[in-house]
Amino acid sequence: MKPIDALKEFRLGTCYYPEHWPEALWEDDFRRMSELGFSIVRVAEFAWSIFEPEEGVFSFELFDRALALAHKHGIKVIIGTPTATPPAWLTHKYPEVLNVTQEGVTLQHGLRRHYNYSSQKYRELSAIITRKMAEHYKDHPAVIGWQIDNEFNCEIGVFYAPADHDAFRIWLQEKYGTLDKLNEAWGTVFWSQTYSAWEQVFLPRPTPADHQPNPHQALDEKRFISDNTISYAKVQGDILRKVAPNHWVTTNGLFGHLDSHRMNDELLDFFSYDSYPQFSTIFYDKNEVNPLADRGWSQTLGAVRSISPNFAIMEQQSGPGGWVNRMDMPSPKPGQMRLWTYQSIAHGANMVLYFRWRTATVGNEIYWHGINDYHNQPNRRVREAGQIGAELAGAGDRIANTQFKAEIALLRDYDNEWDGEYDVWHGPFTWQSGKAWFKALNYRHIPSDMLYVRSGTTIEDLKRYKVLVYPHPAIMRDETAELLEQYVREGGIIIFGCRTGYKNEHGHAYMRPFPGAAAGLCGISVEEFTMVKGSRAATSMKWSGSGEALTGADSFNEILVVESDSAEAVAHYASDYYAGKPAVTKNVFGEGQAWYYGAVFNEEAAGQIIERLGLSSPASDWLTLPKEVELAIREGEDGPLYFLLNYSEQPALVTLNEEKTDLLTGSKLSGSLTLEGYGVVVLS
Ligand code: GLA
Repeated sequence: MKPIDALKEFRLGTCYYPEHWPEALWEDDFRRMSELGFSIVRVAEFAWSIFEPEEGVFSFELFDRALALAHKHGIKVIIGTPTATPPAWLTHKYPEVLNVTQEGVTLQHGLRRHYNYSSQKYRELSAIITRKMAEHYKDHPAVIGWQIDNEFNCEIGVFYAPADHDAFRIWLQEKYGTLDKLNEAWGTVFWSQTYSAWEQVFLPRPTPADHQPNPHQALDEKRFISDNTISYAKVQGDILRKVAPNHWVTTNGLFGHLDSHRMNDELLDFFSYDSYPQFSTIFYDKNEVNPLADRGWSQTLGAVRSISPNFAIMEQQSGPGGWVNRMDMPSPKPGQMRLWTYQSIAHGANMVLYFRWRTATVGNEIYWHGINDYHNQPNRRVREAGQIGAELAGAGDRIANTQFKAEIALLRDYDNEWDGEYDVWHGPFTWQSGKAWFKALNYRHIPSDMLYVRSGTTIEDLKRYKVLVYPHPAIMRDETAELLEQYVREGGIIIFGCRTGYKNEHGHAYMRPFPGAAAGLCGISVEEFTMVKGSRAATSMKWSGSGEALTGADSFNEILVVESDSAEAVAHYASDYYAGKPAVTKNVFGEGQAWYYGAVFNEEAAGQIIERLGLSSPASDWLTLPKEVELAIREGEDGPLYFLLNYSEQPALVTLNEEKTDLLTGSKLSGSLTLEGYGVVVLS
């Protein structure tokens, strides 16, 4: 993949809010940043009321003084456009810019992201502030790039202001042309939903039974939100390109209802991500056996990498997190902030900024801790940042010259992500299976990528991988099936799970035997299927031939029928009324293989398939690692770099059968070595 020019040099830095602090602190802040090895700050993304205190009155003095000091201390600056926080004068004077809930409640001033992307007035005012800021800072010697807005679709990712309903109607007219086509796409013949005039068409509005919409309308709603977000971002992106052509442009994600790939391709130089691995203590740890916890962020970083092979971490967690009323997270233990920094870097980040320099003393985020505490005295997080800064001052540019390398990828796509948000017959399965595969691979030290199947995906994109896993692509267009067929015919291995290929792009069920569009590739049909839940105990599977247990056939079972001579049943169900019937099949198709797994994957099943395929760690010849240590590989012209990341608080024993150098310390390493708790080494 092509290196990204703007990310050729490695940079470490922090998010900084001069407007939150007495001016007397600024110079000391920048001086200390530079001593820690920081070379970049992001500023201003919420400062609209400072730049434009009244409509049409602009003031740059505060940031001019702050940026002059940053420049004096050799710190470069990313400016955020401040449109995530419209000022009170704006929303008071133009209430039509506010977002509205589905129930019709207007979301008022007082938090952030209280606006909608459709209001022409908001677009106009956003364009003005963006242009004024770009004109003012386009030649500033410290400024090198821009962040558009902040975290599109965070806090809220649905929009029901009158302007949104109007914009949706126009979007539908452009997409379908006629009401007949819209009626067909949304299947409105069902329950007498047929529209006879465009004025009758809206974004989903409250309905009986928990406000459930027509499912095809719900899918188009997500597509519309994504397009509308991108077109709003483009208003700013176009201005920045024109007025400040020497600066790069990015934005930070990753949030729902947004095709971040398209946004990146059309508007940005590279994508940025905000990484808070301690969210795992709130969202993901609950009842899971063997939870990935903070290591799970490596999977999300794979999604970020699929957007932009190298990227920035615009906000890297650097302390305990929390708002006054929610998101109460523990403090990172000694070493964890360093571990997470290298987790981001191992997965492709060439720029990392901590969130934030110092914990705010006012507002909703007084518990969202920065590197510095309120008291501003030396602390352990500052010392840890200094260690990282010193290491990367030596190693950063060598790392920046490389890209993550994997031979197996998990496929995803936006159609299924958005359809599966509403459709419980496949959406939840994708999450379970995706995590199962990631765990099974990651615990075996097999690096994996995430690849989004999009209309522009080419055979070359797929052929970078030996194995592709596409867990439950319920929606599968015939063109996608053809591309996957070509990949397998030319030697690739693909693995599908249940619920593959039975819907078209509108979410209509195909009138064909399952797996619909993928039936030819898999050489099978699905005779019957059932959810596996409630009183129905999980069914089991056995490998054909040996009769060895495979695993529980989770959540959904499809009874398969082998249709093609080149296909065989490699495993059978071992319980319920379909015991003995095919559960997993393999079709030799051209030079490659297409596997079909009739249930939802779990870690054990993924692991057994990995072993049957003979996949192992690319470093297995010379490196032995315990399960707690993740292996990530970045490769460039100067050869590979092996990142070993210990997610455990306990030391881990690692064995190297070849001598390597730790890029971070310069020490030569070989034989047995102990990686300290939360320890990291980068071997070259
Ligand atoms: C997000 C935002 C930041 C801050 C942090 C912590 O990532 O971009 O402004 O709110 O979360 O809550």
